[in-house]
Amino acid sequence: MIPQSFIQDLIARTDIVELIGQYVTLKKSGANYFACCPFHGEKSASFSVSPTKQFYHCFGCGAHGSAIGFLMEYSGLGYVDAIKALASQAGIEVPDDGQGRRDRGPQTQPLTDLLGQAAGFYRQQLRQHPRAIDYLKGRGLSGQIAQRYGIGFAPEAWQGLAAVFSDYQDKRLLEAGLVIENDQGRRYDRFRDRIMFPIHDQRGNVIAFGGRILDKGEPKYMNSPETPVFEKGRELYGQLQARDAVRKDGGAIVVEGYMDVVALAQHGIENAMATLGTSTTPAHVQRLMRLAERVVFCFDGDAAGRRAAWRALEASLEHLADDKTIAFLFLPAEHDPDSFVRSEGADAFRRAAEQAMPLARFLETELAAQVDLESAEGRAAFAHSARPLATRIAAPILRLQVLKSIAERAGLSLQELEQSYGIARSRPSTTRSGHRVPEVRTSRGSRHRSAPPGPVATLLRIVLLHPHLVGRIRSDGIPHDCPESRALLALIDADGLGELPMRGGIGALIERFRGTEHETVIETLATATDENLFDTASIETLFADTLHKLHDRVLEEEFARLQQKLASDGRLSAEELQRYGELLRERRHPSSEPKPPES
Ligand code: UTP
Ligand code: MN
Repeated sequence: MIPQSFIQDLIARTDIVELIGQYVTLKKSGANYFACCPFHGEKSASFSVSPTKQFYHCFGCGAHGSAIGFLMEYSGLGYVDAIKALASQAGIEVPDDGQGRRDRGPQTQPLTDLLGQAAGFYRQQLRQHPRAIDYLKGRGLSGQIAQRYGIGFAPEAWQGLAAVFSDYQDKRLLEAGLVIENDQGRRYDRFRDRIMFPIHDQRGNVIAFGGRILDKGEPKYMNSPETPVFEKGRELYGQLQARDAVRKDGGAIVVEGYMDVVALAQHGIENAMATLGTSTTPAHVQRLMRLAERVVFCFDGDAAGRRAAWRALEASLEHLADDKTIAFLFLPAEHDPDSFVRSEGADAFRRAAEQAMPLARFLETELAAQVDLESAEGRAAFAHSARPLATRIAAPILRLQVLKSIAERAGLSLQELEQSYGIARSRPSTTRSGHRVPEVRTSRGSRHRSAPPGPVATLLRIVLLHPHLVGRIRSDGIPHDCPESRALLALIDADGLGELPMRGGIGALIERFRGTEHETVIETLATATDENLFDTASIETLFADTLHKLHDRVLEEEFARLQQKLASDGRLSAEELQRYGELLRERRHPSSEPKPPES
């Protein structure tokens, strides 16, 4: 692991304008720099780089991120390699992550070397076990495909790997997930009597294994645990083998199982990859969208398949782009991709993949199926349930299409729908996530609760640009009920620990929260927040005003709770009654400093 402090330092030292300027010709306009987007073909300059935010964003395709993110996206480097590249440009050395190759004794060989050696052992064992070969043959696989995917066999022995590793007690075998240690400290091989599928990273290193039991038995598949080199939610099985086919064809197919990938390859469909016993994550989608123009998720035709597809849809929304497609292929209920391609053939599979259901249609039909669109209530429920999904769609044109079509089904005009969603129409600065750009209110005239974005989102947008203000926000008034609140709380926590980056702009914040649930929220707001809106003159007013609003809301909620208790129980305790009176007076004559509740 590269220390977070190093990454923060690196971001703060890097000038994103200078970095991107090496690859793209930037022109200054106002506070920002613009260029034709390197990530999608275009003639107008919708790609912007903000020196204050240390963040880039394309208004056309939605690409965005920090300096590290740019290098990853532009050059296809992995996270660690992007950091290394950036560090070498800055002339600083990346602190040792404990896995460096150089100047190290033989006992600190990289984990991937150990895993690679194990893979070699399993391959060699396969040749010596006719039972395993017969199993693979029985599933229609040729030796050629087995070789292409490096399929092997783990023999039934307890310490089979002792044959390749002279020091079976090496702690790195445990770290690599190859052996398990029981309570008595006795070690044995994790994988025994299983067909072995090595999982590779993009450079071809073995980083983990999946192992299938030969016949019946539990568990059917066993995967390596997460290790320093293997993070399940990011990796895709078969990505290495699929790469050329994906490049050639522009499309990628995502399936659920190891066997599905290899069976498709056996039938000449070489662009398939699988998630690894987990549901599809945003990190998967992000990687897929970098690789392919068109991604087809292929799930079993049963209810579980439909649920898995829905989760993939949710993971995709924030990574959609207008020049790419994501579609869903539902196989007949009795099939998975492996059995389908074997019984129906490759052409039938290809045709089905071509006709897969585009994401937007899946979204709408699935939601529409849950309500009765003939009734006003049903139409309202439909529009209501579509809101959190439609507003997360990152591709601006597709998002508009979906909104239009939802409006139509809900019996509303687009404008009515957008109004009820709290998306301002007239302002071009409406954001991808549907949050309105906050207005600077100098007087607290109305005490009505505001429509979205609400004080929490506004505070979040302010502190993304001015992290030093985080210290002035009290966490007790912030609910935990939405992603924005949780992100704001995380910023407050990090600040409390002295870990909030004050330099390096939003780019640094994104790196601080990379891989957490807050990453997307921060990115989304970052692309939407115009730094000019929050100039130093108005920032204090807006900040103070928003803190007031938040506290008002807390007081309102407390008041409503007491009121409801009074209505249902007919009485309040003496303390509650006193508080009720205070709040009542506060509501009638708002003081300039409403007090937060004692807690
Ligand atoms: P399936 O049960 O659909 O397996 O699990 P499959 O690919 O059709 O396997 P075969 O055809 O019976 O050999 C799909 C994927 O879910 C994960 C594995 O990644 C598997 O490929 N899985 C399944 C597990 O991790 N553990 C299990 O016990 C089962
Ligand atoms: Mn199967």
